[in-house]
Amino acid sequence: SAASDVYKRQVIPAAGLGTRVLPATKSMPKEMYPIVDKPAIQYIVEEAVNSGITDILIITNRGKNIIEDYFDRSPELEGRLLEDKKEEFYNQVVSVSKLANIFFLRQKETKGLGHAVNCARSFISGEPFAVLYGDDVIIGEDPACGQLIRAYEKYGKAVVGIKEVAKENIHKYSSLKVEHLDGTYYSCTDMVEKPKTEADVLSYFSILGRCVLTPDIFDLLDKTAPGAGGEIQLTDAMRVLAQTVGMIGVDFTGKRYDIGNKLGILEATVELALKHPELKDDFRAYIKNLASEL
Ligand code: UTP
Repeated sequence: SAASDVYKRQVIPAAGLGTRVLPATKSMPKEMYPIVDKPAIQYIVEEAVNSGITDILIITNRGKNIIEDYFDRSPELEGRLLEDKKEEFYNQVVSVSKLANIFFLRQKETKGLGHAVNCARSFISGEPFAVLYGDDVIIGEDPACGQLIRAYEKYGKAVVGIKEVAKENIHKYSSLKVEHLDGTYYSCTDMVEKPKTEADVLSYFSILGRCVLTPDIFDLLDKTAPGAGGEIQLTDAMRVLAQTVGMIGVDFTGKRYDIGNKLGILEATVELALKHPELKDDFRAYIKNLASEL
C-alpha cells in the first residue's frame, strides 16, 4: 500500500469550532481528545504514516497550540522519564515526535472545510494529495487512506471514502450518485449535500472522513461561494469534479468513529479500550458487570 514517489503529502483539517462537543471544545480541541491513551489525531497521523505518507500539514487555528506541542519533542519530560527509568513511556513520548514531518498552518477565519483545504494550496504544489478529516478516526488492518491511494493509482481520478449510512441519518451527510465498478470501488458522478427530502437522495452512500484530491480542486474552491452555514463547503467543489471528470468512491474497510459528536467519542473509547492490550481484560469485566445492571 506504499504511496508512489510523487504522492506523499497529506492535509489534516483540524480548525473547526467543534460546537457539537461544547462546552469541552471551548478550550480543548476535539482532535486532542484522548481515545484511551492517545489523542484522536494521533490515530489519524498513524493511519497516514501506515499508508506511506511522509509529510503532513495540519490546519489549526487560535487555541489549538497544544496540537503543535504534542508532536514536538519534550526535553523536560523526556529527561525525567529517563531519570526515573521509565523507558517504555520515554520511547512512547519520543516516537510521537518522530512519526512524520508535520507542518502547521493556521486557518485565520473559520470559513469551512473547503476554505481550510484551500489554505493548503502552496504546501501541495500541484500534486494529488490526501485529506484526512481531523475528527474522523478509522481503525482497520488495511489503513483507509492507503485504500484510497491505491484507487487513485488505478483510476487517476479524485477518490472519496464512502460508506452507506442509515436512512434516517442521510440528511446529516452527503448523498452520492454511485455505480458499482469492482470490489470496493464505485464511480461517483454527482452528489447532494445534506439532502432535505427523500426525493433529493441519490443513494445512502456518503463521503466519510477521507479523500484523495487532485490539485484542480483549488481553482474550483476559489470559485465556490459560501454554502450551508455560510461556509465554503468542500463538497460543493467536489460535486463539480464528480459531474465533470467523475470521481471514484471506495467503500473502505475499517471502522469509522466520529469524534465530532459525543456518542462517537464514547463508542471509540469503549471499543478501543476493549482492544487495548493492557486494559482489555479488566475493561471487559467492568463492561459486562455494568451491562448486567442496566
Ligand atoms: P465539521 O463539519 O465537523 O465542523 O468539520 P466543526 O466546526 O469542526 O464541528 P461542529 O459542526 O461545529 O461541531 C469537519 C472537519 O473540518 C475541519 C474540522 O476541524 C473537522 O476536522 N474544519 C471545519 C476546519 O479545519 N475548518 C473549518 O472552517 C471547518
